[in-house]
Amino acid sequence: MAIEVCGGQKLSGEIRVQGSKNAVLPLMAASLLCEGRTVIDNCPQISDVQAMQEVMQGLGSRITFEKHSLCMDHSHFERCCICQDKVRELRASILLMGSCLARFGEVTIAYPGGCSIGKRPIDFHIQAFRQMGVTIEEEEDRLCCHCEKKIHGADIILPFPSVGATENIILAAVLAKGETTIQNAAREPEVVELCCFLRQAGAHIAGEGTSRIRVKGQKKLHGIPWRVRGDRIVFLTFAMLIAGCGGEVTLLTEDLFSEKERAVWHHIGGDEEIRERAVILHKTGAIQPIRYLNTGPYPEFPTDGQSLLLPVLTKANGVSTIEERVFENRFHMIGQLQKMGANIDSVSNRARITGVTRLHGADVVAQDLRSGAGLLIAAAMADGTSSIKNEEYIQRGYEDIVDNLNHLGIRARYC
Ligand code: UD1
Repeated sequence: MAIEVCGGQKLSGEIRVQGSKNAVLPLMAASLLCEGRTVIDNCPQISDVQAMQEVMQGLGSRITFEKHSLCMDHSHFERCCICQDKVRELRASILLMGSCLARFGEVTIAYPGGCSIGKRPIDFHIQAFRQMGVTIEEEEDRLCCHCEKKIHGADIILPFPSVGATENIILAAVLAKGETTIQNAAREPEVVELCCFLRQAGAHIAGEGTSRIRVKGQKKLHGIPWRVRGDRIVFLTFAMLIAGCGGEVTLLTEDLFSEKERAVWHHIGGDEEIRERAVILHKTGAIQPIRYLNTGPYPEFPTDGQSLLLPVLTKANGVSTIEERVFENRFHMIGQLQKMGANIDSVSNRARITGVTRLHGADVVAQDLRSGAGLLIAAAMADGTSSIKNEEYIQRGYEDIVDNLNHLGIRARYC
């Protein structure tokens, strides 16, 4: 399927920002460690959550998902062979490795899938689990892991502050024997949310949000109710849409800008008003170019946000340079933006974007989740009609995206 978008409209209206995809997937893996029921509210209705739900149900979990409320009971979760086809479609399925090792001391798991934004190896995860006493055999399409005794704590230094590796180690460490220290840990808000959830479920964790996290293993955790935070990348998507098209939009959510994102938003000419449960974003006037910006681990500008900013800068009043430092394939979307008339050169991981360009409608193809969202932004900014193929990528992370675009005054439909 594809999404067809008629561009060139200024935006207005009010929409709700969904719960965070990258927070809820680790929370689902964490719920496996909790005795009793875990209920997660504000859960986004997106295909990545559905895929994780199917994987867990296939292993015996009882899960209901109604009106953004995900209710999970894993007392019948038995099998430790996580090799269904769905596992290969989902990057976050690797987090079941940490939870299963903590709960059962063994797991066989297929290599995870996810968007093709780079090589996405899992060597940091494997190395850390070996330090925690796990024997891991790496087969062609799966990993076979077991511990002689209970998994134990370790002092782990990550070569890069990987979000997934930090989360996976925490999940294994909360029920491990002894203490675990993670140095060069990821500081992303989703890591912080995972730690807060686990602490409320009975875990002993300190230092989340810094690069040194300490975990003291406990005997058991219990299920809790939890409300997941708003999705900061979806929030940024709407901000970039407003930056590209102009107008004023009320986002029903808490303020989800990081310091760096807010600085970029103000630099390109955006403004905001923060209310109790809403943020009003507005943009008038010319888009200012960004002389240089690099992506990086939190608190730097997020790599996911880069694909959203790139189309906006094609309309800036001068030349911008962006350096991608996390995923090597994020610039794949440049070829698609060029089809729409964008003036972008890239060498290795640097892109030089020359504005002002008038984008025109074209048939383009999403190659991953955020490039799909970036192409939606470009299509909304363009003159004429565009069609974005591979919209399944967009469904992985955006709930009701076509309805939301229509609410804001952009004519869009599935075709
Ligand atoms: C998560 C997010 C993704 C985001 C990314 C970076 C989820 C479900 N996905 O992905 O949206 O873009 O963080 O903010 O939360 N690396 C290794 N070896 C490893 C692990 C990672 O070399 O074992 C490298 C990766 O190739 C990449 C970098 O470390 O270059 C960061 O990856 P990581 O933070 O692990 O990303 P994910 O957790 O997969």
